[in-house]
Amino acid sequence: MFVVLLGPPGAGKGTQARRLTGATGLLHLSTGDMFRENVRDGTELGVLAKGYMDRGELVPDEVTIAMLLERIARPDAADGAMFDGFPRNVAQAQALDEALAGRGAAIDRALLIAVSDGELEGRLGGRWLCRACGAVYHERNDPPKEAGRCDQCAGEIYQRDDDRPEVVRTRIERQKPPAALIGHYRDAGALREVDGERDLDAVTDGLLEALD
Ligand code: AP5
Repeated sequence: MFVVLLGPPGAGKGTQARRLTGATGLLHLSTGDMFRENVRDGTELGVLAKGYMDRGELVPDEVTIAMLLERIARPDAADGAMFDGFPRNVAQAQALDEALAGRGAAIDRALLIAVSDGELEGRLGGRWLCRACGAVYHERNDPPKEAGRCDQCAGEIYQRDDDRPEVVRTRIERQKPPAALIGHYRDAGALREVDGERDLDAVTDGLLEALD
């Protein structure tokens, strides 16, 4: 099964992807995590991506699509995956459709996590991540048991550079899923919308239900 998670920055895509992969066994593929790994490792791709990420802009399609297609060509993505943060526009969606069609597959579900703008700023401003395993926390809504340490691996937790207030505002303005992208999956019969403004467990249940 191939699943796309759609939603504005801070909707809970990464948080829910981790919960859903636990429940479904699907491989979690996040383009944001891939870019952050490249930034951390100082690769050429990371240096290029960092400039866009720090400004709250999308990394150019040709770079992002090439990275994603290389990743899904690996054997562990042969039977299914859950895409988090990809696609962001119709060009990316079409590139993914073509790659999957080449192996006789398609996107089975596109799950749109709906959250209002007013909620997003608070979620991003209070987000903390584990530097080692990427687990996501929130200082009020979902804090780690021990301050500054990841519950899962005891790694150090930190705040993302692009969660600064001025960058958060730009991301919320410019990086919502465009209507044409939502329409792309609606036309394919794959779109399901889930209310993302409930507590974490209720959102997970809604997404699992939408996955049938
Ligand atoms: P990326 O990492 O994908 O960022 P994003 O889409 O902005 O999404 P976020 O990771 O900010 O939010 P999320 O929806 O995963 O929310 P989370 O679960 O963390 O991309 C980063 C950058 O990389 C982009 O700006 C771009 O430059 C580049 N990039 C990535 N993909 C690209 C692509 N395809 N094309 C081009 N460029 C690309 O939750 C947020 C917080 O809310 C957490 O603290 C969490 O604990 C809390 N929370 C979650 N759910 C709930 C809930 N139900 N109730 C209360 N709190 C909640």
